[in-house]
Amino acid sequence: YDDLLTLYYGNRLIGNNFELFEGQRYNDLSERRMREKQSFSFIGGGDVREPSIIIKNFDGSFVNKFKYTKSYLEKKYMPNTFLPYAKDSLTSLVSEYYDEESEIIYRRIYSVFKDSDIIAVNCEIENFSNHAIHVLSASSVTLDLEGTDYDLTTFSGAWGRERWRTTNKIKNGIFINDSKTGSSSPYRNPFIMLKRNGIGNSFYAFNLIYSGSHKESVEQFSYNNTRVNVGINDFCFDYILSCGETFILPQALMIYSESENDITKQMHYFVNNNIIPCAKRGCPRPIVYNSWESVYFNFTEDKLIGLAEKAKALGIELFVLDDGWFRDDDKSNLGDWNVCKSKFKNGLADFAKRIHGLGLKFGLWFEPESISEKSELYNSHPDYAMVVPRKTPIRIRNQLLLDLTNDSVTEYLYGIISDIVEKVKLDYIKWDFNRYMTDRYSPVCCNNGEYEYRYYCGLYKLLKKITDRFPNLIIESCASGGSRFDLGMLSFSSYIWCSDNTDARERIFIQEGTLCGYPQSVLSAHVSASPNHQTGNKTSIENRFNIAAVGCLGYELDFDKCSETELDGIKRQIAFYKRYIELLQFGEFLKIGSAYEDDLFGYMTVSDNKRTAICVVIKLCDCGELGINDFPFRFAGLSPNIEYNVCIRNQVNKEKISGFRAYGQDLCSYGVKIGKLLKETDRENNSNSIRSVIFVFESIECLPSDEKKR
Ligand code: GLA
Repeated sequence: YDDLLTLYYGNRLIGNNFELFEGQRYNDLSERRMREKQSFSFIGGGDVREPSIIIKNFDGSFVNKFKYTKSYLEKKYMPNTFLPYAKDSLTSLVSEYYDEESEIIYRRIYSVFKDSDIIAVNCEIENFSNHAIHVLSASSVTLDLEGTDYDLTTFSGAWGRERWRTTNKIKNGIFINDSKTGSSSPYRNPFIMLKRNGIGNSFYAFNLIYSGSHKESVEQFSYNNTRVNVGINDFCFDYILSCGETFILPQALMIYSESENDITKQMHYFVNNNIIPCAKRGCPRPIVYNSWESVYFNFTEDKLIGLAEKAKALGIELFVLDDGWFRDDDKSNLGDWNVCKSKFKNGLADFAKRIHGLGLKFGLWFEPESISEKSELYNSHPDYAMVVPRKTPIRIRNQLLLDLTNDSVTEYLYGIISDIVEKVKLDYIKWDFNRYMTDRYSPVCCNNGEYEYRYYCGLYKLLKKITDRFPNLIIESCASGGSRFDLGMLSFSSYIWCSDNTDARERIFIQEGTLCGYPQSVLSAHVSASPNHQTGNKTSIENRFNIAAVGCLGYELDFDKCSETELDGIKRQIAFYKRYIELLQFGEFLKIGSAYEDDLFGYMTVSDNKRTAICVVIKLCDCGELGINDFPFRFAGLSPNIEYNVCIRNQVNKEKISGFRAYGQDLCSYGVKIGKLLKETDRENNSNSIRSVIFVFESIECLPSDEKKR
């Protein structure tokens, strides 16, 4: 036969009796193509389901006749592209198909990694003919699954409501999770999970290493089978592949597991070890002070220095000056990156020196990909803006995007940003992106169907140049909050601002959704003011901390407006966080219950040797609670044989609670009654109706055998 089937995708196998997996084979080509589990599908092959690629050939037809030719192993596969790929692959299996009539080679590449069950998949299309062809659609992976009873979990929402978890039953038809915004978007994240119902527990998850418009389709078909395609969106897509040229697609990740917790664990490990920049692997993210929700555009240098002094005294490590250092409102100056002389009389380098002098790292906000029409850059280079000549562009937040398909634009940005990093001695950049694409056009990128793909190649090339030159520079990615939370941006950043919604209760849902596919170490979470600026809800400083401590901690409120009690609380919070920073950011994450289903639930993080663990226990309070039973809360992930010293973080809004000792076995089987522990002394400050407490588990001794179990 001329095709390559996915005979099996599941747990690792021990033997190699592959005959076991051979199902029924069909003689009729089209039956074969639609009933057997294909790994590659195209028009003209007899399969009428969603294909892996659509090519418009030189003869005007959409028909291809690919035949499987060979497979081979390649060590350290490294395609010639600016797209980011998962780092440190061990080996790759390359499978080739050839269309003899059209002279096109299709390569599907499966890469595997040390200590990981994740497979990274991508493909290359090489045109050997003497004519140009059009690639109209191309997904990075096609996976055919058995059966039709699947639940699909996606992470969707909007600004301020990013990555809420939603589960839908797949029905006959095609379910598409996608983005057409020119970014991975807050609407639908590229991370998806499928659960097969019925036989055993089978979970499949996928993600794409790409930050632009993406598309994940799940097609339930009529022969008791289901197909998944994951890749860039074919929306407005038409790549002209000239003779001799190879088109390279982004890499998709896929994983199979028997539990959702394991999917999360594997994804976390992979992001920490194979996605984020090598120089940042395992490095704790510093505790940040960010000026945005504290002072917005209205500040003086003295006000900032005052805040920085307080931040330092409280234990903060990095001072970030957000928007406002080069303008007084959001209507102008994007693109110029000239400091506002009226705010910083002696310039930015001098201000940075003062911050560094306090013993703090210093960071600045940028929105490199945008341009204001009220700017010097626009006056001198209107052609740098992403607009279609003679058509009025859509302005979002008063701004346009820059045309990153144009090398002169990326060179300009590289020059201006690296100059500031060097002169100001920046330790950190917040890389924001506050609008989506509406008017895709470029005078230099002649074929508009390649626009987005080339835009992201330009962006990644720029980010690579900057991170290669400044490997220690910390980049926090951001896009109106968490509107571009994806593996593409993470390939160049340490973490991503999770959401502009800093309301503790709402953040729980955003963070829980995000943590399904992304680790704590890349989730940036700040304690902000109460009442919250987005929702108006009030929550105690301790609840705000307990929820931010699930990710990478920062503060984003005006310390000058905090009470002494709050400042005292903050100081203790930071000391606590610093003590357990590695555990909180890199420990194994386990969900106990879920904010989406339970009113009492917990987020556990456990060290590799299980000798230390932390659990943030949260109660969502609504009406009808008085007099209900206080059943014990059961922990998870602790070692049964270890006796732990259990203590509860000392909070300013709770009476001091003393610790106790217990075995992991007992803590996970019986648990701890929690009702009393959640009582607060300042209930009037809590219109948000959440209560929370942090448990710390530290081993006393390790019992040698099971006999000593109680
Ligand atoms: C976006 C970000 C915010 C802040 C503002 C500044 O909205 O998400 O955190 O940086 O821009 O304009």
